[in-house]
Amino acid sequence: MSPSSADGPGAARVLVAGGGPFQLDIIRAVRRLGAESVVVDRDPCAPGMALADHGEAVDTTDVDAVVGVARRYAVDAAVTAASDAAVYAVAAVIEDRGLVGLPTAVARTCRDKLATFTCVRAAGLAAPETRLARDAAEAATLASAIGGYPLVVKPRSSAGGRGVSIVRSPSELAEAVARATGYAASGDGVLVQAFVGGISAGVEAFFWRGALHRAFVLNDQYRDGFVSPVGHSLPSSLEPAARQAVVDAAARFAAACGVTDGPANFDLRLVEGETVLIEINPRLGGSSITELVRTCYGADLSAATVMAALGRSPDGPLALGEARPVAARLLVGRGRGPLRLVGEPAAPFAGRDDVLSLVVNAADGAPARLAVDDWSLFGSCLVRGATLEAAEALAARVAGDVEAAITVMP
Ligand SMILES: Nc1ncnc2c1ncn2[C@@H]1O[C@H](COP(=O)(O)OP(=O)(O)O)[C@@H](O)[C@H]1O
Ligand SMILES: [Mg+2]
Repeated sequence: MSPSSADGPGAARVLVAGGGPFQLDIIRAVRRLGAESVVVDRDPCAPGMALADHGEAVDTTDVDAVVGVARRYAVDAAVTAASDAAVYAVAAVIEDRGLVGLPTAVARTCRDKLATFTCVRAAGLAAPETRLARDAAEAATLASAIGGYPLVVKPRSSAGGRGVSIVRSPSELAEAVARATGYAASGDGVLVQAFVGGISAGVEAFFWRGALHRAFVLNDQYRDGFVSPVGHSLPSSLEPAARQAVVDAAARFAAACGVTDGPANFDLRLVEGETVLIEINPRLGGSSITELVRTCYGADLSAATVMAALGRSPDGPLALGEARPVAARLLVGRGRGPLRLVGEPAAPFAGRDDVLSLVVNAADGAPARLAVDDWSLFGSCLVRGATLEAAEALAARVAGDVEAAITVMP
């Protein structure tokens, strides 16, 4: 039987849902704060399992099994990072044990993009017109109701841009519906949504006791063909008043969706002074955002998440230093087959003090490990620069050079 922290004095126990590369930072934060981590991941060999005080090979989408683990270890907090799939299990543990965090109803609102749209519109806030279609024929009929082309087709509940297509003409619609359907639960249908132009921005926010406590507005970077941002940079290039307007809008979106505690990550578009919500994820952001914020401002979102989940003030880890321009970028390539490498793609950047980290999970002939539709993700970089523009340009150059040295077979 597992020892229980309820049996007597001892370290607080924190359940971390997911033990993959994106959860390592929060698992380390649990340790740094003197608590014990209970990590659940379906893969017993996930890197976070080796780091955990207690590792349990349980799928994070098996909500009842995760609740069972939480009871057995009498955990005092439950968190995740980057994993949308784990949000339900975290919510269930929080409800079951009466912990600090978001309940299942909020997880459901945020994980279902139709429900998010309904809540945001009911609150009188801006979100793109969204309709549910059962098939391509219905999607074609709905296209005019949402304002015509270009439009966006996406699953109701996916992540990482999987199954999301920007559809420029009716001839592309059927393929986009088929792609989104591939990520949909059976009978779920797909969403047809108005395309929103404007400036793409992210907000990494932290809520504490019902109020927005800290917010970081991110600049987003894109590359051709990849629907989600491949990069983020800090500090925001928006003027202070525009930045504040985005933060205020994020607070209203959160209130509309019931997000009151812990970290949340927003995908936004700024159109003629108005902030439009694309998506709200009630968990720490993925793709190196925690590291980006820490490097720019010195604020530790992982530690803040663990402390707040334990019911302690996150003020200490969220203290701000002076901003340093930084940029993070994913390394991606089109194709899903084995990788072919020319030389040592990272070698030209070794020893550079402005390339703060460059992780390339690619070996010649090895399979790509993470995929988004017909793209493979094989690493990431974090760089700094004397200015924001310099940091963004360096991140783009590092990514461009490394990606040019790696071919992903179809
Ligand atoms: N209505 C839209 N208008 C313009 N771009 C969009 C729209 N919906 C999604 N996108 C783009 O696609 C990306 C992924 O879509 P999103 O709804 O955030 O799905 P996911 O949950 O997979 O991240 C967004 O980051 C954004 O760049
Ligand atoms: Mg998104």
